[in-house]
Amino acid sequence: MRKQSRNGEQAVRDDRFPPMLFGVYIGVLFLMSGIHMGLLVLFDKMQYGEMVQIIVPILYWAVVAIGLTLYTRWKIRSTYEEPMHQLAEATERVANGDFSVYIPPHHRADKLDYLDVMILDFNKMVEELGSIETLKTDFVSNVSHEMKTPIAIIKNYAELLQMGNIDEEKRLEYAQSIEQAASRLSNLISNILKLNKLENQRMDLDMEVYDVCAQLCDSILQYEELWDEKEMDLEVDLEDRAYIYGDRSLLELVWNNLISNAIKFTDQGGRISICQESEEDYVRISVRDTGCGMDAESIHHIFDKFYQGDTSHAKEGNGLGLALAKRVIELMDGDIQVISRKGEGSTFTVTLPAAGKEETNEPH
Ligand SMILES: Nc1ncnc2c1ncn2[C@@H]1O[C@H](COP(=O)(O)OP(=O)(O)OP(=O)(O)O)[C@@H](O)[C@H]1O
Ligand SMILES: [Mg+2]
Repeated sequence: MRKQSRNGEQAVRDDRFPPMLFGVYIGVLFLMSGIHMGLLVLFDKMQYGEMVQIIVPILYWAVVAIGLTLYTRWKIRSTYEEPMHQLAEATERVANGDFSVYIPPHHRADKLDYLDVMILDFNKMVEELGSIETLKTDFVSNVSHEMKTPIAIIKNYAELLQMGNIDEEKRLEYAQSIEQAASRLSNLISNILKLNKLENQRMDLDMEVYDVCAQLCDSILQYEELWDEKEMDLEVDLEDRAYIYGDRSLLELVWNNLISNAIKFTDQGGRISICQESEEDYVRISVRDTGCGMDAESIHHIFDKFYQGDTSHAKEGNGLGLALAKRVIELMDGDIQVISRKGEGSTFTVTLPAAGKEETNEPH
């Protein structure tokens, strides 16, 4: 018996000369020949006629041949036809959209043959198809859900605006609400498009060597109004310069989301720290806040699309920011980690490869 390793994975039984089958055949042939000889001796002793001595052995061997044919047929049926039939039925169910199909393999894990491996691969394929289908359905229902609220707001306020006899103040208020809902909608769509491009790797990365400290300063300043409004204590600890090799506009999305999250999920008067340090091969940026923090379950899901752990701020976003951030950082060969405790705050740490020395001297 030979055991072949398929792509270095599962060892598969590949018998050129199956000893079991050989054992069965030789046993049967010995037994039948023995009976044949016994019959001949019996005929001789009993002195039966010549016709009987010819016809009985012929009939006997015909019965033996029928037995062997039936055995071989049963063997082919149970080894190939039944699994194939099962596979055909399962394939039909999958084609009709049933992804709960599972075919058990016919042998134990250490005695798998090629058919078992094909069945196991089929099960794996169906499971994958099922999860893609679920993701697709979840994605469509999430997008529809996120779109419904701003569209309802736009519709309601537009109806109110049409009613006439409303004073100038109210009119302005309604128009502002419509504008906010429209910009939320446009944000949602542009984030979905960005994520789609990033996931399909259709986006051409615009990689360059640039100073990430300057970019972080710009991002922090963008949110000045917000942290001022919440009277937050902002601590910034950046080097003068730190060069990285990355896509500037994509990384801007990452910093903006981490900083806006820190502000959004921290109460009035909290503290936000943004630190950056350089090691020989990488640059590390961390955004820490003293906000609401997260439990283990939320931490597990924050990088999922549309996940929003803290529902009290659900209106202020769509839960796509961190999914986008993670994908961007993956594309830049970096890493993002989070440490958080419910009620105590969170720290997001991004590590990115530093630009090489030669590249830093001659930024292109
Ligand atoms: N600094 C933080 N403190 C506490 N929870 C956070 C923090 N950052 C993210 N989260 C949790 O992770 C979830 C996902 O964050 P993400 O940035 O992806 O979405 P969002 O900010 O709700 O919406 P969007 O970024 O699309 O505007 C948030 O809804 C929140 O529950
Ligand atoms: Mg966010």
